[in-house]
Amino acid sequence: MNISRFNMGPIEISEIEFQIVQKLLFKETGISLGDTKMKMVQSRLDKRLRFHNITSYSSYLKIVQISNAEKTEFINELSTNETYFFRETKHFEFLENIAKNSNSLKVWSAAASMGAEAYSIAMVLDIFISNGKWKVVGTDINTSTLDIARRGLYPLSWSEKIPSKYQKKYCLRGSNKHKDKMLIDMGINKDISFFENNLLDENKELGMFDVIFLRNVLLYFKEETKLKVINNVVSNLEIGGYLIISLTEHFDDKKIKNIKYLHNAIYQKV
Ligand SMILES: C[S@@+](CC[C@H](N)C(=O)[O-])C[C@H]1O[C@@H](n2cnc3c(N)ncnc32)[C@H](O)[C@@H]1O
Repeated sequence: MNISRFNMGPIEISEIEFQIVQKLLFKETGISLGDTKMKMVQSRLDKRLRFHNITSYSSYLKIVQISNAEKTEFINELSTNETYFFRETKHFEFLENIAKNSNSLKVWSAAASMGAEAYSIAMVLDIFISNGKWKVVGTDINTSTLDIARRGLYPLSWSEKIPSKYQKKYCLRGSNKHKDKMLIDMGINKDISFFENNLLDENKELGMFDVIFLRNVLLYFKEETKLKVINNVVSNLEIGGYLIISLTEHFDDKKIKNIKYLHNAIYQKV
């Protein structure tokens, strides 16, 4: 007879424990978790409690507070990492135009998640900055998505979003047991690097950039946090350089002195 355990439901989180999760995540990442996200927290953190063989969130949160390794897991589980290649194509058309007229460009994919944005940028630069130099830096607070980004290995279905001119040049289709996978051609990888960072902090060590993509992350922040993050990021932008946020995101741009709005959620540093 085959035997298995009864399927246990998720360990319940109390309202007070949930509030501690909200405060801790906000302090560490700036992410504001809405009050409706209790079930989401429960389903994402359940495996961490089971990993530690504990049955209460109070005990788990004590571990998070004393262990940096567990704090990283906590952040990895609770940050939302949805991404895809060539997301919001208008921004890549804009980048193509800049690249055509440049001999060198340094671009930052801030909040890079699994790297789809950084590789999309790199493909554009590699084709359009002919005989020139380019560099792409991808950063994120989530260490497990950065591991995926560094590998450059994705489900084959992700290649559907990549325009065919880029697909042909930069994507390798897996075969046999990897037939459902797609590898970004590592030739392109020579000028891409991925680092862990927190957008709440200043990031002087990253240096200055000509273009910064800061897309689909501001929506997780309150207005005050958005302004702090944008001020931090803009300090890494060359004068005349471009800051690109998502077409669906907003912030009070009158509060940031040294940028002017161009179009399509694109700002220029003045
Ligand atoms: C939805 S993804 C956006 C990915 C990509 N920019 C795109 O548009 O497809 C949001 C990313 O922001 C990251 N993030 C959230 N808070 C952060 C912080 N304080 N510092 C750095 N990254 C952060 C998350 O880990 C997540 O990978």
